[in-house]
Amino acid sequence: MSRKPFIGGNWKLNGSKKFIAEMSKVFNEAELDSEKVDVCIAPPFVYLETLRNALRKDWIVSAQNCTEKPKGAFTAEISVGMLQDIGIDWVILGHSERRHIYKESHELIGEKTKKALENGMSVIFCIGETREEREKNLTNQVLIEQLAPIKDIPDWSNIVIAYEPVWAIGTGLVATPAQAEEAHLFLRGWFSENISTDVSEKLRIIYGGSVKPQNSTELIKKPNVDGFLVGGASLQPGFVEIVKNVIENL
Ligand code: PGA
Repeated sequence: MSRKPFIGGNWKLNGSKKFIAEMSKVFNEAELDSEKVDVCIAPPFVYLETLRNALRKDWIVSAQNCTEKPKGAFTAEISVGMLQDIGIDWVILGHSERRHIYKESHELIGEKTKKALENGMSVIFCIGETREEREKNLTNQVLIEQLAPIKDIPDWSNIVIAYEPVWAIGTGLVATPAQAEEAHLFLRGWFSENISTDVSEKLRIIYGGSVKPQNSTELIKKPNVDGFLVGGASLQPGFVEIVKNVIENL
């Protein structure tokens, strides 16, 4: 694989100090060559520093969200500068739970992404269609609409695209390797036509939605699947099996 695989674990609203102590023991013992693969865990905001201090330095620690605002009267928001102040330089933006449960618009997510990138953060930018949209054959159109607000970003080297069909998130209904490959291939084509062939070739497009150790090998074998964003299975020691399966298929 010419692109360096990226495997992220999104803990969502889960975790505790005790859990971090247990999981970092497992993660710190995992064999992993950070020259060959990027591995990342995104805990809730309040645990970012605890996890950063507990994990081996070759594991990336990411936030699950941030605001586009630099500072001021925005109760409960967390800025890019604050994340960087505690040594965090990755953030997940546009996760489907932010889009659908918290009604973050395409435009807001675009603004957050630009602000984070402009300030030197790296972004895991999530997109994906709902079941209804897929059934109406709107998948590609939805992906284009979600990408539109970031079309004009000048530098794509610090962004990873996570294709996460909403119907596969937390449902146990994983996309088939063929379905994932089809969407990733469409995205790569879109980048080639709308940004550049160079960006299209270098950009990492990862898959998310019910990834588990058991289905990760078949998925990673697909040429346009460059890694995973894992929810539920990142809360289990088996997350390191997913990393292992990716490394074995390099
Ligand atoms: P899941 O979540 O692996 O639990 O389906 C994926 C995600 O939300 O990133």
